[in-house]
Amino acid sequence: MENFMFHDCDTVDLAKKFGTPLYVMSEDEITERVRTLKSLFDDKYERCRTHFASKAFLSRDILRILTRENIGLDVVSGGELYLARDMNFPPERIAFHGNSKSAREITEGLGYGVGKFVCDSIQEITVIDGLARAAGKIAKILIRVNPGVEGHTHRHMLTSGGRTKFGLTPEEIADAVSMCSGLANIDMAGFHFHVGSQMMDERAHLGAIDVMLELIKKTRAGQGFETRILDMGGGFGVAYTDADKPSPIADFLGAMTSRVEEFCASNGLARPDLIIEPGRYIAGPSGITLYTVCNVKETPGGVVYIGVDGGYFDNPRPALYEAVYGAVVANKYGDTPDRVVTIAGKCCESGDILIRDIALPKVERGDIIAVLCTGAYNHSMASNYNKNPIPAVVMINGGHPRISVRGQTYEDIYACDAMEV
Ligand code: LLP
Repeated sequence: MENFMFHDCDTVDLAKKFGTPLYVMSEDEITERVRTLKSLFDDKYERCRTHFASKAFLSRDILRILTRENIGLDVVSGGELYLARDMNFPPERIAFHGNSKSAREITEGLGYGVGKFVCDSIQEITVIDGLARAAGKIAKILIRVNPGVEGHTHRHMLTSGGRTKFGLTPEEIADAVSMCSGLANIDMAGFHFHVGSQMMDERAHLGAIDVMLELIKKTRAGQGFETRILDMGGGFGVAYTDADKPSPIADFLGAMTSRVEEFCASNGLARPDLIIEPGRYIAGPSGITLYTVCNVKETPGGVVYIGVDGGYFDNPRPALYEAVYGAVVANKYGDTPDRVVTIAGKCCESGDILIRDIALPKVERGDIIAVLCTGAYNHSMASNYNKNPIPAVVMINGGHPRISVRGQTYEDIYACDAMEV
């Protein structure tokens, strides 16, 4: 019997010291993943930039890491922008996304001088133009295109194809580009697409790139428009369990950049600058969540439920996307699996099951369960459902753990309630 180690930290000690539920992130892993992406992308293409999609995980610490590593940031709300601004994240490296930005958010983006707005509708472009004029600024924009390609992922993670709310169709682009040339406060720099999230291979990205390259060619011939930037989104899949076999990131990037280079060369087009904006690839495998087992219950039907002290409020992904995670019993790491169990969250929801049917060593009350690969879209999607406090985030750096985001108290949960009538 041994304890499960995560980036040179004993996870059982972490649980004892900081309490559970507990998000544990590794700065070393985040840094390593950012550097891998950057160097692979730089090797393959001369003008490229990597952004981190902050919706996957956002905290002051990660902004410090990203600033230091000289990569960009995607935000989709005033709330995400607020922290970037508060941390003096270089504004020119920020792209402001979102399919429904409010006037307040656009004004905040203009005020901070974000590098680009990624526009999702014709109307939004005109609104940004007006607000930019009022602010005495020129807003650089990309237009989000729905390339119509449907990748293989959960339907809630698809952002391209016939049923998505995102982007303009390629048929609408010519008019949008012509319109932009008449807007004095808009600097239309290029296009954006994002096929969806947790893609296991590069097929959907390549299909979308083909559509985009044709569009780039067409708008050049038709509207005389030179595309300066092509933002190819994120979506690079990670392995949640051994059953997931994502293509290596080098294969994604190699195939994507070659496709752009070859098309531009054979069609006499200037190569656009390229952007990628992964979230999950950087944050997902950089984090785990620790829980304490509160009870073990066997139903007459033979299902063994392991009740833990967290669940839907710290990880809604199994309920929302049927997401499948791996886990270990941290204080019995390496022990032989004893039987197949189901790890149940503590929220009053039948759907609050963290992991169904996983083989684990004998689990008892007080054991520590580590759920793996929870660094992306867990903390960022956490809620106070059932008035559970959002757990702390511990960041490990060089084997040293420290509180990166403190856990909420009960008082925090009610901090916004009016005290008096
Ligand atoms: N860029 C855009 C425009 C996006 O919409 C997204 C994700 C990303 C980049 C980053 O995608 P990633 O590299 O992380 O796959 N809550 C869901 C994921 C929703 C992702 C939405 N957009 C989940 O928990 O799986």
